[in-house]
Amino acid sequence: MIPAPSCPLSPSLAGAPIGVFDSGVGGLSVLQALRNELPHERFVYFSDNAWAPYGERSAAFIAERSLAIATHLLEQHGIKALVVACNTATAAAIELLRQQLPHLQLVGIEPAIKPAAQRSHTGRVGVMGTRGTLGSARFARLLASLPPQVQCVLQPCDGLALAIEQAALQPHDEAARAAVQALCQRYTQAMGRFGRQAGEIDTLVLGCTHYVFAQEHLRALVGPDVQLLDTGVPVARHTRRLLLYAQLLATPSPPAQAQAPCVQWLTSGNPLVLRSAVAHWLHLPTAACQRIMLPPPALDAP
Ligand code: DGL
Repeated sequence: MIPAPSCPLSPSLAGAPIGVFDSGVGGLSVLQALRNELPHERFVYFSDNAWAPYGERSAAFIAERSLAIATHLLEQHGIKALVVACNTATAAAIELLRQQLPHLQLVGIEPAIKPAAQRSHTGRVGVMGTRGTLGSARFARLLASLPPQVQCVLQPCDGLALAIEQAALQPHDEAARAAVQALCQRYTQAMGRFGRQAGEIDTLVLGCTHYVFAQEHLRALVGPDVQLLDTGVPVARHTRRLLLYAQLLATPSPPAQAQAPCVQWLTSGNPLVLRSAVAHWLHLPTAACQRIMLPPPALDAP
């Protein structure tokens, strides 16, 4: 039985919450941008951390999880829109979600290689992402759409999202922090030289929503001249446009009733991970974080 949501439910669809999900805590980087862009909306955030990370799992498994989560958010929380705040899940499942839930406003996320190609002066763009994202057909199509003079150096970052999940649980643990730093170092070194000179990577795409939380390590490793690009803000703006067009934007409460923006926190795994990440990175209270048991996946976890 699902406990009553901590936010009051509105009878109109425009007052319904927006669902946001990720394999874990990475999608909080997108949620942060959504809250800034849409201050009058309510959100339900689902972290599938019982099955995180997604990056090294099969596309069929991720598609199954994504559909189960979307269906849960729709049926139990009456969401008006869903933001798939995970590049890996978008690559594996967005088409299935569009087919199966045709009336839901859907927003996916993909690595910002198009804006990176426009901004790069050296024409060399680094792309960090999960194995699942960078190996997907969807990403291959995106890559093929770039002008031929732009070279992308693709770096699958096995283990990095998991290390960030672990650091989220223990934000003050030096060993957890060092593990994230070591992986960032290994992967940036593997990509080659960073800088503004010819032949150097001058733009680095964070193609996984978790990596935003490793930004300080990445910045220190690639130096101040390299642009780091993530997709939180563009996704939030796109969500806003979509809701405006569909006449689904929440109306502001009158000042007398104004209340803090509301987020409901759900997780399939250890609630402490989500609570700790939200408190540390978003500085928000998480008293109402609930553990949700969805039906176990029919497909074996690869
Ligand atoms: N945060 C997710 C992404 O943007 C997935 C990371 C993972 O679970 O491996 O791809």
